[in-house]
Amino acid sequence: MKRLYIVLFLLTALCMSIFAKDTVVQLSAPNKTGGKSLLQSLSERHATRDFSDKPISLEILSNLLWATWGINRPDGHRVAPTAKNKQEVIVYAAKNDGVWRYEAASHSLTKVLDKDYRADFGNSTVSFVYAAPQGELDPLHVGALFQNAGLYSASINLGNIVRQKYIGVLEGKLPLPEGYKIYITQSFGWPKEETK
Ligand SMILES: Cc1cc2nc3c(=O)[nH]c(=O)nc-3n(C[C@H](O)[C@H](O)[C@H](O)COP(=O)(O)O)c2cc1C
Repeated sequence: MKRLYIVLFLLTALCMSIFAKDTVVQLSAPNKTGGKSLLQSLSERHATRDFSDKPISLEILSNLLWATWGINRPDGHRVAPTAKNKQEVIVYAAKNDGVWRYEAASHSLTKVLDKDYRADFGNSTVSFVYAAPQGELDPLHVGALFQNAGLYSASINLGNIVRQKYIGVLEGKLPLPEGYKIYITQSFGWPKEETK
């Protein structure tokens, strides 16, 4: 009998871990109004290194993901350009409840890892990990995305910093497509001194 309980327990744990990774969160439609003007955002863009504990709401995350790599036209083109419109960059978001892959077509997040990696990203509230194929133009594509994210952040006083030093945190852990690599990370959080 005891053995049966152990088997049932293990099966339940296995199912829970499998289903947890398949979790999908539908994000609210991005709010495309508000924020500072583009010129003001450009003049205020900067790297922030100290983040407060204040969470980033799902609404802000929705806007941030859309501003970074969302679809902005009915034909499926994106907020950032890619050569031949290949759209091959993948954005992963590491946050308190695991690591999620952004799906632009459905504007949703799919969980890919259960663990909280925030401590490994310098205690940032949310960190994006940018992955793409290894072609000549792929680093350029990634750069366009992190600048979009930096400008949206500046427009709402959200802190952000692009960091090469954390590219190893999820190395070998993410379910990357064949031939992909992690290029850069970008962390976000409300600045410590101005918790807006
Ligand atoms: C591609 C790239 C890689 C970076 N890597 C790191 C990093 O590994 N560690 C770090 O502390 N800052 C990193 N930064 C942040 C820069 O140090 C920072 O952007 C720079 O000092 C300029 O400051 P600003 O963004 O406020 O203009 C990186 C920035 C870029 C664009």
